[in-house]
Amino acid sequence: MKINRPSSGCIGAEILEMDVVSVTETQVNTIKQLVYDHKLVVFRNQNINEDQYLEFARKIGTPQIYPQDNYHHPDYPEIFVSSNVPKDGKKFGVRGTGRYWHTDCAFLAEPLPLTMLYPQVIPSSIRETYYIDMQQVYKKLPSNLRSHVEGKYLKHEAKWRYKVQEWDIDKAIIDIMNDFENKFPPVKHPAIITHPETHEKILYMNQGFTTGIVGLSYENSQELLQELFSFIERDDNIHTHVWKDGDILLWENRTLNHKASLLPEGDKSVSYRIGIYDGLPFYVSSEGVKKQLKMPTR
Ligand SMILES: [Fe+2]
Repeated sequence: MKINRPSSGCIGAEILEMDVVSVTETQVNTIKQLVYDHKLVVFRNQNINEDQYLEFARKIGTPQIYPQDNYHHPDYPEIFVSSNVPKDGKKFGVRGTGRYWHTDCAFLAEPLPLTMLYPQVIPSSIRETYYIDMQQVYKKLPSNLRSHVEGKYLKHEAKWRYKVQEWDIDKAIIDIMNDFENKFPPVKHPAIITHPETHEKILYMNQGFTTGIVGLSYENSQELLQELFSFIERDDNIHTHVWKDGDILLWENRTLNHKASLLPEGDKSVSYRIGIYDGLPFYVSSEGVKKQLKMPTR
């Protein structure tokens, strides 16, 4: 196992000369520490099947079964399929997923700590996924923007990203959205979270799912959120992973926002994602948030 670490302040460690099929317990501990330290880890030159992929994920933690089953691989419910290519003549997974800044499952009360991604068909045009290190963004945040979020809770919800399904035909949009909201009600998380392992502070918000600042009016919230997103999504905050055949990526959703690239019409893409719970709480409260807890939040 050969490890290339990024330069200081950058994300992404590279693991070479390691077959994920025969990974040892010591190597798994090293991999987890690499993810906590460098947020994004790429395993190069892998060639594994679904069983082996799942077995590798189980060594890292507990695979998630995504709460919407239309995303599931038909034979492996733990594998979330992002695909625009049918399998055996049938729709396979969901196309066009995650093409906006987000962290996986931020809209759940217990978000997803780790994500593993193994492309099966890499598009021929754009072979990229984008990341923003929200721990670094928190460090760089100017004091006027920091004052908008310090000690605050943010509202996260997924209804605006819901993809209409076959069974929604003939339903009114408002009923579709209300049904979805009943299943996945909005949640609140502290705007600034503390990492359970590194104890670093992280700005936890994203354009895709973060829809409000608790305690502020809708108009005020939207204005401040857009100011924050403009700062977060600046080009100099964006890290681009350029996919090579055989890459498997593992990243942490506590610290990274990510976004898939847009695909030109006709280009093919199939990716297998496995969400992984690492056995740690998603975040521990920071002092500012504890104070906020004593106050009414709405
Ligand atoms: Fe994602």
